[in-house]
Amino acid sequence: MNVPFYGHVRQYQSIQSEIDANMREVLESGNYVMGPMLKRFEGEFAAYHGMKHAVGVGNGTDALWLSFMALGIGSGDECITTTNTFFATAEAIWIAGATAVFVDSDPKTNCIDPARIEAAITPKTKAIVPVHLYGQCADMKAIRAIADKHGLFVIEDNAQGIGASGNGFRIGELSDAVCTSFIIQKNLGTFGDGGAVVTNNSKVDAAIRRLRNHGSDKRSCHSMGFNSRLDDLHAAVLSAKLKHIDECNDLRRKWAARYTSCLKDAAGITLPYESPGYRHVFHLYVVETKNPAHRDPLLDFLNKAGIDAKCHYPIAIHQQEGYPWGKQARIAGPIPNSERNAASCISLPMFPELTAEEVDYTIEKVLDWNRGVAAA
Ligand SMILES: Cc1ncc(COP(=O)(O)O)c(C=O)c1O
Repeated sequence: MNVPFYGHVRQYQSIQSEIDANMREVLESGNYVMGPMLKRFEGEFAAYHGMKHAVGVGNGTDALWLSFMALGIGSGDECITTTNTFFATAEAIWIAGATAVFVDSDPKTNCIDPARIEAAITPKTKAIVPVHLYGQCADMKAIRAIADKHGLFVIEDNAQGIGASGNGFRIGELSDAVCTSFIIQKNLGTFGDGGAVVTNNSKVDAAIRRLRNHGSDKRSCHSMGFNSRLDDLHAAVLSAKLKHIDECNDLRRKWAARYTSCLKDAAGITLPYESPGYRHVFHLYVVETKNPAHRDPLLDFLNKAGIDAKCHYPIAIHQQEGYPWGKQARIAGPIPNSERNAASCISLPMFPELTAEEVDYTIEKVLDWNRGVAAA
């Protein structure tokens, strides 16, 4: 049996008539950039978060650095984040001209460890950039408390956690801006690239609206800006898919629960940890081999069995060749948890349209491997 890692086509087929109808509406309207479909989706996306504003931009990376710029973060400023995330989190800090400061992640959730943040704060610190890694919110209450104490911005990298929530908080409620990616493999993905910033701050919203459109909010009038808009055709796809995001996340949670209940006794691996009271939306279902030396053999074993398991992210940002490429970066304190996560992570297939047979076959193969390790 072959188990794919992504189910893009299955998802398209499951709601094809809704996506096609929205796309046809755009095509027949003649409005393809900054048109009514983008406006409609932005309204729907803001409402989904219970927030005032959503601005569609070109991709999730742009959402991050446009937010930094809109908040006035740039050269000489420091932003605190983690190294066990997708590269773009740090890349966006560098694009904005700021310094990336890396602290360790929590050993259980793999999100930023709030207990490590205060020691990394200097007079130059301007923001904390927590990543809701794999689909589970970072501890935003603790992060907000630190930010308030030190007068810092909080920008959520929510590329992976649409629809997630924490214990007593929603995404967006405790930050200055939420940055989302709509690249196809995300929980809410379009057929290509896209992103958005969600915020209650009307100044941030207005600044990003100008910055994404050549510094213009009025025809022929410009200040310095960029071209980073979410196309109406992407907004059409996203508007159709947004209506199903909660049920899709429920399906992800269902498959995660099945993995967890069947793999809980596999001694060679650690399973994902869901913090009490949190809604983890399992963008990725990431196990860790207890022995990092077992990671590549397990990955190879699964791949050879036809299971398209992957790693997110096997090389932490500070371990990338050439780091930091002449950019400003600082590692604050030891970061053993981020390094352990990078060395031992394996993502099992996870998407809403998986079948029970595919999940059970994956479980069977992980258990086969685990028996082999126990016997060795
Ligand atoms: C955590 C994280 N941050 C930022 C990004 C950047 O998003 P994009 O690829 O849309 O630029 C991604 C995904 O690709 C991501 O997973």
